[in-house]
Amino acid sequence: MPRQKIFYFKKNFLWGASISSHQTEGGNLNDWSVWEKRNAKRLSREAVEKFGRLKNWHQIKKEAEDSKNYISGRACDFWHKYRDDFDLAKSLELKALRLSIEWSRIEPQKGIFDEKAIKHYLRMIKALRKRDIEPFITLWHWSLPPWISKMGGWKNPKTINYFCRYVKKMSQHLKGKVKFITTINEPEIYTSSSYFYGVWPPQEKNFFSYLKVLNNLIRAHEKSHKIIKKISPRFKVSIAKNNVYFAVEKNSFLNRFLKWLADWWWNFYILNRLKNHLDFIGLNHYFHNLINNGYNRNENKVVSDLGFELYPQSIYYTLKDLKKYKKPIYVTENGLADSNDSKRSWYIKEVLRSVHRAIHEGVDVRGYLHWSLIDNFEWDKGFWPRFGLIEVDYHTLERRTRPSAYEYAKIINDRAILRPHKVASPQGTLIEA
Ligand code: BGC
Repeated sequence: MPRQKIFYFKKNFLWGASISSHQTEGGNLNDWSVWEKRNAKRLSREAVEKFGRLKNWHQIKKEAEDSKNYISGRACDFWHKYRDDFDLAKSLELKALRLSIEWSRIEPQKGIFDEKAIKHYLRMIKALRKRDIEPFITLWHWSLPPWISKMGGWKNPKTINYFCRYVKKMSQHLKGKVKFITTINEPEIYTSSSYFYGVWPPQEKNFFSYLKVLNNLIRAHEKSHKIIKKISPRFKVSIAKNNVYFAVEKNSFLNRFLKWLADWWWNFYILNRLKNHLDFIGLNHYFHNLINNGYNRNENKVVSDLGFELYPQSIYYTLKDLKKYKKPIYVTENGLADSNDSKRSWYIKEVLRSVHRAIHEGVDVRGYLHWSLIDNFEWDKGFWPRFGLIEVDYHTLERRTRPSAYEYAKIINDRAILRPHKVASPQGTLIEA
């Protein structure tokens, strides 16, 4: 028998999973759904250039080259199937679920609020509570009402005021029903994809717009935080911040400088500006970036279906770096695209070991929410990347729990990770540790 080492988690550690409105609900009318229709053909044509080099290309080719893949349409129909999905979450022992409210549903036209949509979200929250699942509510996960995008989206400073009006309205409804709110999901990913690289709507590649939008999002959070806390000081409010572990390969001056720069701008700039307006830190963590006379010199020994390196130790360093803010931390997202579920359970266990290590060294991590509960629409990549603990058959909308989800459920149930488990060999295959 191999020696057993056990990593225990505290009783009140919040175990969960995350999803977002546009990626799961279906039937949304927002800037993304408009953009998808206009760009689906182009995206399907570009697939081979973007993903053709992936090892699993032959598996994804059919979907990735089909323009329908790029239209969110009915997505997972979560809007109607949420009770079933919450039952599945419950069956997996989850104690928390992060979901987002779709601004375009709540305020489909300027100043006209849809009370039915608000009630629908309140029913979702009630359904979670009934199952003893703590809701984490995100108020903005990237999709905008079309009337806002027509006004210039987040580039227009007026959007801050409209957003705050929506935030106020929702917080009044959420008062007493919800504790955790994340206002804005990953402001840095949104601004860089939409305004720096120009690959997401509104596809503007302009450095000044990028800075302007980032600044407007920061101001929007600051103001929203004040509004929400005024409605109830009991709300715990944050953003979901995507932090990357920048590691240095050789300890040269250039490498150290590149690390400092990336840390300063990508990881800490927004947090430094918002630190007085965060009750906790919501961490979304996916990436490790190895610096060696340049960025992204990763070894890529083990990769996800999207070709992203899977380096589960990185979350330990990312968490340690957040210790200086002296705030509770919830991992609000972390996960991988893995359609045949061959790496998910290994990845979750290794990540949780790293989280445990950080906690052991004094980082106040209070929860872990895996991305994602169910497979969903992965933005400009469409449906083929499979992030779910639960698989979705997009033809029948049937759900099938993946084996790794049961392993996650077992960890939650035990509040512990037992060894032996699998680790990555130097050749990139998974072996028993
Ligand atoms: C986003 C999610 C996305 C996930 C996986 C995160 O950056 O918040 O919406 O699906 O990454 O790529």
